[in-house]
Amino acid sequence: MAILEVSDLKQYFYLQPTFLGKLVGGKKPRIIKAVDGMSFSMEPGEILGLAGESGCGKSTCCLAIAKLREPTGGAIRYKERNIAEMSKEEIRNYRSEVQLIFQDPYESLNPRYTVFDTVAEPLRALTDKNKTEVRDRALETIAMAGLQPEEYKNRYPHQMSGGERQRVGIAQALVLEPNLVIADEPLSMLDVSIRAGILDLIRDLSERMNFSCIYVSHDLSILSNISERLMIMYLGRIMELGVTKEVISEPLHPYAQALIAAVPIPDPAYQRPIPKIKGEVAQPIDPPPGCRFQTRCLQVMEICHDTEPPLKEVKPGHAVACHLY
Ligand SMILES: Nc1ncnc2c1ncn2[C@@H]1O[C@H](COP(=O)(O)OP(=O)(O)O)[C@@H](O)[C@H]1O
Ligand SMILES: [Mg+2]
Repeated sequence: MAILEVSDLKQYFYLQPTFLGKLVGGKKPRIIKAVDGMSFSMEPGEILGLAGESGCGKSTCCLAIAKLREPTGGAIRYKERNIAEMSKEEIRNYRSEVQLIFQDPYESLNPRYTVFDTVAEPLRALTDKNKTEVRDRALETIAMAGLQPEEYKNRYPHQMSGGERQRVGIAQALVLEPNLVIADEPLSMLDVSIRAGILDLIRDLSERMNFSCIYVSHDLSILSNISERLMIMYLGRIMELGVTKEVISEPLHPYAQALIAAVPIPDPAYQRPIPKIKGEVAQPIDPPPGCRFQTRCLQVMEICHDTEPPLKEVKPGHAVACHLY
């Protein structure tokens, strides 16, 4: 049974026209289609990588799954229950089973909370544990995140480094032993030198605690390292989805091919192929009909201008949204 099933998820934002815009373009609001018809599912214990350029809708997708924003359309099912139709009690349960690790631990941590309070808070809010149980569980989780509890428990966010703060963010997300963790670029605000340590921590904990994880990154070398399956997004849509090794070694979509060709390879003798792509990332505002990638694709065909390619399985477990297949 899938732990998570996302079908035709859509999240639109409506931009009111500016004064100048009204003069030249009329009064119609413009639509940002941040997520526009995403469908995928996840098995329990799986780590699913989500890749794509900045602005393609990765965080928007995460917020909808975490039920922090109501989607415009589509359905998200967790353990076969539609999260939009959950009762108060089920939502409370969902909030404890599904956790988000944020990109910027400085913004997501309450500056007035000590490390102990930050990690204990979800236990107080969502469980019936007594004071001693809360204390023990919080200190144990702080230690699990790689921080000495006695040294750190009374510190405030401003008294720690970025890496230490992200460890607190991880402890806060894991203290309730979630079933599904959504990690939205958890390393991107951190110094390169400490990224490996945090990545190892997340991987190690995912094995020990056996949670499913959506791991978001624009960095394919990280995803090739941590995720079992890989999903590549472009302007609100899934372009390719398959086993990470296969997607990296044999990408099918022209966009995936370009993205993977741009990953640095630590071998000076290796001749880097020229990325097969043109132009720059477009905006998801009022996207044209047809394939969203048509303006940058060097293999664009007639059909790409008017028919949006659906995501379809072309090899077992490997799906692509492209008219070439
Ligand atoms: N609250 C919002 N209001 C309007 N536009 C938004 C909002 N949130 C995100 N967007 C737009 O939606 C698109 C996707 O954003 P986001 O999901 O943050 O991308 P990513 O995480 O992949 O960088 C972007 O064009 C962004 O500007
Ligand atoms: Mg983001």
